[in-house]
Amino acid sequence: MILASDSSGRETWPSWVLLVATVLVSGLFITGPVLRRRYPLAWWLILGFPATALRVTYTWRALMAGCGLAVSRRPALTVVSGLIGNGAPPPQPRVPRRGLVRPTAGGFWLLVRLLPGQVPEDFVKAAPAMAEDWQVHAVRVTSWKPGIVRVAASVSDPLAAPRVPKQRGPGRLLCVAVGALETGAAWVVDLRRVPHWLIVGATRSGKSTLINALVAGLAPQPVALVGIDCKGGMELSLYEPRLSALATNRGQAVRLLTALVDLTLDRMTVCRAARVRNIWGLPDKQRPVPVVVIVDELAELFLVASRNEKDEAQAAGTALIRLAQLGAALGVFLVVAGQRVGSDLGPGVTALRAQLGGRVCHRVADPGTAEMALGDLNPDALKAAQAITPEQSGTAVLASGDGWERARSHLITEVEAEAVAAEYAHLTPVLSELHVEAR
Ligand SMILES: Nc1ncnc2c1ncn2[C@@H]1O[C@H](COP(=O)(O)OP(=O)(O)OP(=O)(O)O)[C@@H](O)[C@H]1O
Ligand SMILES: [Mg+2]
Repeated sequence: MILASDSSGRETWPSWVLLVATVLVSGLFITGPVLRRRYPLAWWLILGFPATALRVTYTWRALMAGCGLAVSRRPALTVVSGLIGNGAPPPQPRVPRRGLVRPTAGGFWLLVRLLPGQVPEDFVKAAPAMAEDWQVHAVRVTSWKPGIVRVAASVSDPLAAPRVPKQRGPGRLLCVAVGALETGAAWVVDLRRVPHWLIVGATRSGKSTLINALVAGLAPQPVALVGIDCKGGMELSLYEPRLSALATNRGQAVRLLTALVDLTLDRMTVCRAARVRNIWGLPDKQRPVPVVVIVDELAELFLVASRNEKDEAQAAGTALIRLAQLGAALGVFLVVAGQRVGSDLGPGVTALRAQLGGRVCHRVADPGTAEMALGDLNPDALKAAQAITPEQSGTAVLASGDGWERARSHLITEVEAEAVAAEYAHLTPVLSELHVEAR
């Protein structure tokens, strides 16, 4: 070690070491704010993370005690020692053991071993207190394996300005990166894994932007896109050159959905004859083109004013449910969007919801819609969705059988989506059986 002795014989650091250290520390203090603005990742790894890791280490015991996650040791002995006052300090309470604090691009994570009697939910409840204590944007607690939880913190909201990756080529069939997840990973809609989706959100919450991203990603792929937009085609007609069929009112929608059910049943006959369980089992040459059906504004299909409309609404609902039931194996996928999707739209909506395994809930105007989208899958997801503010357009809570997460779609404007649809218009499959007259 480079140590010198002073006049009293004590060992001290040589003055040049102190000078270099002072220059380095003041340099970091001066350049810190610039570094943070221009190179946030470098700032986080060099300065932010070490400081936060120290804070986590030093406040761990007090934080666990404050959150009620510490258990007292030998309580009986403590009481006795207090009564007889033998001066021995009472034993420190036991706190859950924590692993190393490890950095990520936008935060850090650590593993925690639960004490006997503790369950992961105790830590989930303590997550807001941890975020406050560590001065980070959010803390998420997930079960790692029995007896251990993973605590992950994000320093700032990763969805405030998610990076839009450049998409090269058409990508994997029926897979589209539509945005970014809170973890920083890509938000990928994979229709072969989760075939049917329900997208809800109040007006201007980001539904159409998400559909734009989905259409822009699917347009270069060998798939047929079909639109049902009973708001007079205002939204989906933008992609008309790339659509194999478009219905713009309820009458057309019912005829188109009926034609889609017939197409699905025909595919079933083909699969049965070839003794395969789904279209993916058919030889490449025989395999029919996958069809993605996009419905914008579900309520327009279900809301009724007259008897005649009631029959149409019922027919539309039944056809959608049949498509959802049969479609996945036969290459027909549903993406259904709506502002208000409540049980007041009729029993058909609840039955349809049960078939739409992928859920995307943007900011909603009524709790019933969030409940419809997420309530049956995850009550925690429901709370997260209700916390989305109007300033966070495009931010949504995603839920499927696997769990839930927050995400934000890429901002793909109508103009961009329209341009992509026009560029790939030549790939539009002709499905003559889906042609419905405009009555
Ligand atoms: N992912 C996003 N990132 C940034 N801004 C977004 C995002 N999504 C939506 N927005 C903003 O919100 C506006 C409204 O979004 P969008 O048209 O998708 O809403 P909507 O839910 O379809 O509304 P409506 O129900 O009225 O059709 C967009 O024009 C855009 O400015
Ligand atoms: Mg819209």
